Amino acid sequence: MLEVQRIHTFYGLSHILFDVSLQVKQGQVVCLLGRNGAGKTTTLKSIMGLTPPCKGKITFKNENITGKQPYILARKGIGYVPDDRRIFADLSVKDNLEIAARKSVKGNGWTLQRVYDLFPSLKGFAERKGGLLSGGEQKMLAIGRALMGNPDLLLLDEPTEGLAPGLVKTLRETIQALKSTGLTVLLAEQNVKFTLKLSDYGYIIDDGRICYQGTVQELIASDEVRKTCGI
Ligand SMILES: Nc1ncnc2c1ncn2[C@@H]1O[C@H](COP(=O)(O)OP(=O)(O)O)[C@@H](O)[C@H]1O
Ligand SMILES: [Mg+2]
Repeated sequence: MLEVQRIHTFYGLSHILFDVSLQVKQGQVVCLLGRNGAGKTTTLKSIMGLTPPCKGKITFKNENITGKQPYILARKGIGYVPDDRRIFADLSVKDNLEIAARKSVKGNGWTLQRVYDLFPSLKGFAERKGGLLSGGEQKMLAIGRALMGNPDLLLLDEPTEGLAPGLVKTLRETIQALKSTGLTVLLAEQNVKFTLKLSDYGYIIDDGRICYQGTVQELIASDEVRKTCGI
C-alpha cells in the first residue's frame, strides 16, 4: 500500500533522514521504533507531504505521491494523527469530528456514531470544547478525527506519549480493533512493549537511518531493539 524508497529529508540545511526506505502492506500494522530525535516524526511528515523529501520516492496505492500536498494525500486516503494532536480547542468534540468528515468511497465508512462507539467517552463530551478534554481524551479525539476522513492508511505519531498506563491498554485495544476492520497502520513509537504487541512488522530508526527491520519475532529476538531504543 505504501512504499518509501530511499528518501532524504532536510530541515533547512540540516540533513535529517538518510536513505530511509520502508514498506507497509495492506492490512498490516507496521511500526517505526526509535528513541527521541531519531527521525520518526520527520518520516511521517515526509510521507504526509509536510516536509517533502529532496531525494527518493514515495508510492501510495501504486501512485507516485512524492512531494504532493497534505490535503491531496488526505483525499487520496492517508490519515495522519500528529504527535501534538492539533485538535481545534475552541470547537466542540462533535464539530472537531464533523469538520474532518470525508465520504467513504466504499460506502460503509466511519460516521460520528461509529467513532462514538469506538470511544464512548467522547460521546459523553460531544458538546464540550476540545481544549477542555484531558490529554488522553484529546488523543482519542485526534484519532477519531482522522478516522472520519475514512483513511485507507493511518499514520499514527507516538499515540502513547504522555498517556496513563490504563489508557495505553485501551489504545492498544482500539488499534487492534481498527486493524480488524482492515485499516492499514504505520505507527511511530518509542514505547517498544506497546508497539510490538500490536505490529506485524517493524523498522528501527536511529540518527535518521533505518538500522534494522524484521517481523515482530525477529525484532523481539534482536539486540538492536534493546540497543537502539534504550530498553
Ligand atoms: N522543525 C525542525 N527544524 C530543525 N530540526 C528539526 C525540526 N524538527 C525536528 N528536527 C530535528 O530532526 C531530528 C529528528 O526529529 P524527529 O523526526 O522529530 O524525531 P522523533 O520523532 O524520532 O523524536 C532531531 O535531531 C530534531 O532535533
Ligand atoms: Mg516524534
